[in-house]
Amino acid sequence: MNILVTGGAGYIGSHTCVELLNAGYDIVVADNLCNSNIKAVEAIKRLTGKDFKFYRYDLLSRDDMEKVFAENEIDAVIHFAGLKAVGESTQIPLTYYHNNITGTLILMQLMEKYNVNNIVFSSSATVYGMPETVPITEDFPLSTTNPYGSTKLMIEQIMTDVQKAAPKLSVTLLRYFNPIGAHKSGELGEDPKGIPNNLLPYVAQVAVGKLEKIHVFGNDYPTPDGTGVRDYIHVVDLALGHLKAIEHCSEKPGVHIYNLGTGNGYSVLQIIEAFSKACGKELPYQIDPRRPGDIAECYADASKAKNELGWTAERGIEEMCEDSWRWQSAHPNGFDD
Ligand code: NAD
Ligand code: WQD
Repeated sequence: MNILVTGGAGYIGSHTCVELLNAGYDIVVADNLCNSNIKAVEAIKRLTGKDFKFYRYDLLSRDDMEKVFAENEIDAVIHFAGLKAVGESTQIPLTYYHNNITGTLILMQLMEKYNVNNIVFSSSATVYGMPETVPITEDFPLSTTNPYGSTKLMIEQIMTDVQKAAPKLSVTLLRYFNPIGAHKSGELGEDPKGIPNNLLPYVAQVAVGKLEKIHVFGNDYPTPDGTGVRDYIHVVDLALGHLKAIEHCSEKPGVHIYNLGTGNGYSVLQIIEAFSKACGKELPYQIDPRRPGDIAECYADASKAKNELGWTAERGIEEMCEDSWRWQSAHPNGFDD
């Protein structure tokens, strides 16, 4: 099976490419490297000992993307490419809507033209907005709180509408919770540009001495220690979830929706403690006010993916922090080291 991976040079995409190649799939990667590095592509090839075609193309360029479909016989698409920073999306919403939505429309138009009937899409727990209870099941009401989240929800809707009109199409919407961790080798990991927005890369950069201390956004939430609780999932477990989705949902027409999380929630302070253990030193932090838009608790009910795909996350929080530290300590400046 030949799989087009859009955004395959990025954090989750690159780890998924490794697992796809190791499992014997053929892949073709398209990524404009706007938030990633060609060294990630080289690392995928090195780690797997396998070669594949890489197109440094922008999804917004229909002519370029058409070449990918014309030159390769694609059986399925895993669509990671997109902009993902929540804060930035409120500053430059047009850029987010154009990149994420128009890019997806062009991709799906080409799939239709070239008769490609399987797509797996990177959605997000952000489509649950401010959930009233936890754990979150796939049938919870959907809403969004920022333009980034709105692009995810709109793309889910677009794909659902397209599937209704094209009954042969298999659409799988994977709603990721909070991916962290890195490949065991320490050669592949998250490499955010500038100051990280997300907790884990921030903690990792404090651990490696690039940032002074962690800012904990609020300790007055109704959670056991007052700090925000999230469902952190190892990026390799997440990657393996995509293989299960391809295996079980390809050639099965319809819209298939799964949460990919562990079902466990950890607080910010628990994460700082686990990372301190992994890196062997106490990490400095200070309590700051809440970050606007944040929710107290967010974790998945992942039983649908378990029952239907036979997938469960196996790697615990210690392993997530150890793997993240191995990558960060070997590459303090990410792929630029
Ligand atoms: P990432 O930024 O590392 O990867 C996205 C990749 O897409 C990058 O390599 C980027 O260069 C590429 N890209 C963006 N726009 C493109 C375009 N127009 N044409 C070609 N390539 C383009 O992000 P990630 O963390 O690996 O996330 C992958 C997907 O998963 C994204 O769609 C993201 O919204 C979604 N997601 C991420 C998280 C998370 O916390 N990391 C959580 C839920 C969902
Ligand atoms: C986690 C916890 C913060 C940074 C985001 C997106 C979501 C999805 C995953 C893409 C919260 C706290 C954070 C810091 C802190 N992405 N925190 N200090 O907000 O759960 O989810 O990434 O789809 O859509 O919203 O992740 O890592 O930013 O925050 O105290 O410097 O850590 O308040 O409780 P979040 P996060």
